[in-house]
Amino acid sequence: MSSTDSDRRVVSGMRPTGRMHIGHYYGALQNWVQLQHEYECFFFVADWHALTTHYEDVPDIEQHTLDMVIDWLAAGIDPGAATIFVQSRVPEHAELHLLLSMITPVSWLERVPSYKEQQKRLNDRDLSTYGFLGYPLLQSADVLIYRASRVPVGADQTAHIEVMREIARRFNYIYGRDPGFEAHARAAIDKMGRKAAKLYRDARKRYLERGDHEALEIGRALLSEQRNLSIGDQERLFGYLEGGGRIILPETKVLLTETPTVPGLDGEKMSKSYNNTIPLREDPKEVERKIRTMPTDPARVRRHDPGNPEKCPVFAMHKLLSDESVRTWADDGCRSAGIGCIDCKGPLIDAINAELAPIHERAEQFEGNEELVKSIIDEGSETARDIARETMEDVRAAVGVNYR
Ligand code: TRP
Ligand code: SF4
Repeated sequence: MSSTDSDRRVVSGMRPTGRMHIGHYYGALQNWVQLQHEYECFFFVADWHALTTHYEDVPDIEQHTLDMVIDWLAAGIDPGAATIFVQSRVPEHAELHLLLSMITPVSWLERVPSYKEQQKRLNDRDLSTYGFLGYPLLQSADVLIYRASRVPVGADQTAHIEVMREIARRFNYIYGRDPGFEAHARAAIDKMGRKAAKLYRDARKRYLERGDHEALEIGRALLSEQRNLSIGDQERLFGYLEGGGRIILPETKVLLTETPTVPGLDGEKMSKSYNNTIPLREDPKEVERKIRTMPTDPARVRRHDPGNPEKCPVFAMHKLLSDESVRTWADDGCRSAGIGCIDCKGPLIDAINAELAPIHERAEQFEGNEELVKSIIDEGSETARDIARETMEDVRAAVGVNYR
């Protein structure tokens, strides 16, 4: 396989948190459903990543995995269009993670912002572990092993994708250099003269080893000024500046998804840990009960008290789920006390249940049919594994550890 075969390949994963809620739906799943028609998609359950923080809780990872995959399918991920698999079923991810760990400076991982933040936030457990520090590195292996062009993630993951790209660059720099090219490049550098050659080498080193983009710009500017170089040499040195060897693991780019923050039942961000969610497979009656009991603008004590929709979690949901005319009706009615909160909640309940109806319908064939779900995972994992194996052949050869 050439690297161009994977030009339109997308890989993304989620930790197995169990049943998905509408926050996951609007925040990620809807986008995945869209992408599966535009790219060759690989969506996987990052079960090993769950262990990085929950190694001690013995959560029911397997059950969570199945529940989550059912929700993916129910949301419209089509196993005929996208490959659905489980990380631990493709052990090559672990092998690549190990090999990448050899060339990854610890400081790169320590400076990922989520590292210290999560340690602080999840202070009920000891996260001074090797596995937790390596979280972004495992994530890098997850993506790089498919030589994907794009990784669709939310803004919270961009720092992880940044290290991933730096690691790929460093890997290619260390293991992808082709000797002939190197010799030519060296000879060309010497033609620049002592001072310029030194500046060039320093800039290249800073960029390739540390991902210093300023150094890259300095190197480029330096090359543009050169008068003693042939066009051929100049081009060679532009390439050499950025690594200039064989690309074994292409640097996957982020595909940033515009994710609305879905408000929960209490107006905070919808999240399982806040206990304010509407699960994707929520029963319509339960949706109704949850919305009916939602708090509203506290200023509306009595029916004739006007309110401010901006202070109301119900309205926050209207903004996301209702169309313009309903939103205007709710906004006006609230401010003028023309409608009561019960009235206001009615169309929201309907909107949510209408959105969830096709999801329920699709979920039906999978619920209680564990075998079917497992066979989808089996098949997807095999497909994924074929590609992962191929990449690892290349990676092992480049690193020099394939005794075959
Ligand atoms: N870290 C991601 C999250 O918390 C999950 C994940 C693991 C992932 N491996 C990945 C996402 C690879 C994209 C690509 O959401
Ligand atoms: Fe909230 Fe609607 Fe009641 Fe206003 S009328 S407080 S927007 S529920």
